[in-house]
Amino acid sequence: MFLTWLEINKTNILHNIGQFKKLAPHSQIWPVVKSNAYGHGLKEIVAYLSDHDDVGGFMVANLEEALTIKNLTKKPIMVLSYFDLSDHFSLEKVDSQISLPVYDIDTINQLASLNRDFLLNVKIDTGTARLGFSQDQVRSAIDQVEKSKHLKIFSLFTHYAESEAEDQTFSKKQLADFQKITKNYKKYKIHSACTAASISLPLAQSNIIRAGLGFYGLWPSQVTKKRADQLAIDLRPLLSWKTKIVHIKQLKKGDSIGYNRTYRCKDDCQLAVLPIGYNEGYDRSLSNNSAVLISGQRYPVRGNICMNLTMVEIPKSLEVKVGEVVTLIGQDGGEKITVEELADYCQTINYEIVTRINPNLKRAII
Ligand SMILES: Cc1ncc(COP(=O)(O)O)c(C=O)c1O
Repeated sequence: MFLTWLEINKTNILHNIGQFKKLAPHSQIWPVVKSNAYGHGLKEIVAYLSDHDDVGGFMVANLEEALTIKNLTKKPIMVLSYFDLSDHFSLEKVDSQISLPVYDIDTINQLASLNRDFLLNVKIDTGTARLGFSQDQVRSAIDQVEKSKHLKIFSLFTHYAESEAEDQTFSKKQLADFQKITKNYKKYKIHSACTAASISLPLAQSNIIRAGLGFYGLWPSQVTKKRADQLAIDLRPLLSWKTKIVHIKQLKKGDSIGYNRTYRCKDDCQLAVLPIGYNEGYDRSLSNNSAVLISGQRYPVRGNICMNLTMVEIPKSLEVKVGEVVTLIGQDGGEKITVEELADYCQTINYEIVTRINPNLKRAII
């Protein structure tokens, strides 16, 4: 029915939640489902986990994402990054299920003036220099919220700059600075741990784990994976990306392939044409620089990736048909293409590969 689709492995979803629970038995596990659940399908993931006992709530980047999942779950939804204060239409839909981030006094005052109840998460900058009250502002910000009739604090949180690194010195300083503030506010939920910090800095686990990349079975770094191995924590990738051959073409030695003729056939060969390109999230830097799996074997991408098409060279002797399944990410027989392999080809990080897969593609939880 679909020419290109993603399969999300539900056994591995449950396995990964279990691993976070094992890692941090006293913390609530909140999957971070921003950016279309790291490309895995926001609505699909939330609907699947909507009443899972070990999921404390869901975390999103913005209010739009929160409103998208509001009717799919009764669990709390935390907006981590931003919302538009002038978008009263959206703010009117916010009730006690959704909590909003604050990191400047002006936003606190404006929310207080709307005469509606809001649940807030006070974001504290301990050195990531992104969003968050500075450490000398935060106490007066909390006072300001506590004075307001309509505003309530749900949590205090911070975010690490390099918790995936070998050297944890800076993360430890961030945690110590965060704790200096939060020790006076034990009545609120306290959280700082993303995937890497929850593994590398156990003291960061506190009340809530913000399980992002690791929830999807991917690693923020090899160092984090090594540390997890030592703790017998094993996370399994959820995502496979598949497509089907739409056309097969015979080419002669010396023929060129695709726009700008960047590849010349070294021998007579066949070309399998795939209905995916950079529009679908198969990055253009994979041109002449990637491989796919067909019937458990690897075959190279040839020529430039187009907007909606990609060409793959297969030997003349291989019997393939239009409609045959091709694996772009995932396992086929004994062969596997990982998100990290594509990230290496693109000289980027695994986060970017998955979040850029076109949200319109079908996601099937299987
Ligand atoms: C504030 C915040 N918390 C948690 C996360 C999850 O991080 P990770 O995917 O590394 O687990 C992110 C991701 O960017 C974030 O911005």
